[in-house]
Amino acid sequence: MINPLNIPLNIQKSETSKIKNVDFENLTFGRTFTDHMFVCDFIDGKWQQPKIMPYQALSFEPSARVFHYGQAVFEGMKAYKDEAGKVWLFRPEDNHSRINKSSARLAMPEFPKEYFFKGLETLLQMDADWIQPGLGNSLYIRPFVIATEPAISASPANSYRFMIICSPAKAYYSGKVRVLFAEKYSRSANGGVGFAKAAGNYAAQFYPTTLAQEKGYQQIIWTDANTHEFLEEAGTMNIFFRINDTLVTAPTSDRILDGITRRSIIQLAEDNGIKVDVKRVPVTEIKEAARNGSLKEIFGAGTAAVVSPISAFEHGNEVFEIPESENSFANMFKKQLEEIQNNLAEDKHGWRHEVVL
Ligand code: COI
Repeated sequence: MINPLNIPLNIQKSETSKIKNVDFENLTFGRTFTDHMFVCDFIDGKWQQPKIMPYQALSFEPSARVFHYGQAVFEGMKAYKDEAGKVWLFRPEDNHSRINKSSARLAMPEFPKEYFFKGLETLLQMDADWIQPGLGNSLYIRPFVIATEPAISASPANSYRFMIICSPAKAYYSGKVRVLFAEKYSRSANGGVGFAKAAGNYAAQFYPTTLAQEKGYQQIIWTDANTHEFLEEAGTMNIFFRINDTLVTAPTSDRILDGITRRSIIQLAEDNGIKVDVKRVPVTEIKEAARNGSLKEIFGAGTAAVVSPISAFEHGNEVFEIPESENSFANMFKKQLEEIQNNLAEDKHGWRHEVVL
């Protein structure tokens, strides 16, 4: 167990709260931020005393390496409030270990677990009013690390800043998602940073995703960079295919994010007696399954997106509409996951972590 209680933390409380100006029923994802943020600097080879301060703009020299080389990683996690007012995190240790894996790949220092939990839990205690109860409501938490050293030679920085900011959230995608299977652009390559939550992985998707959006698709399902023959992930989500009653998803690799929601769904599928086939997923197999009616569902899974059904895909100038499924796996997994996250169902795998207020 982590005991973050003895970590010294400098706290500067906001004099006023912005909460009264927030319409929690009409939130656009990632636009509204809570009153406080957590900050910890890495200087002279060590993490300095962390602090919590009012959410505010940052000031860095224009030469800070993050602006030039994108030396930055982040995480996505959520806090939930149950009907009794208790606050819960979902598998937070997995986020901590993943941000450190991402940092290591980007030649950045790892962040100590005690500091991570001390900062996170204190921040949630201070901004607890921003977490709305009820299924579908959550507080999206964004830990991130940036290279702050003012120097533009292309090498790892000597100074970094670790931060946590929080944003009340509802659904990431409203309604069904239409996707394009990638045929030209790639998200990641063998030996690259695809498995990491590196900021640049997301920036590199913006241009092809904008082209896809112009054609009426919200997302791209990325294929392997070598052949474009195998489906990998959707960039904001891992991806699952339901062929008859078997769930199929690509194995994680150095190109694919090891999603915590992905892992949880594979476990829930096993708990529900659903066969899961973790294997390379040929585009041809999915197109053939769509033609012969055995493709019942495609859905994405991620922290922000939770479980998002895909209603159509395009590949090779052919559009495939996926009929609405009776007994949808996507709906079932979403319900089961949200009930565990919101303390409405038994947590038999020990995924919930209570934040004592
Ligand atoms: C998340 O699901 O937390 C992510 O990091 C995806 C992000 C693009 C919103």
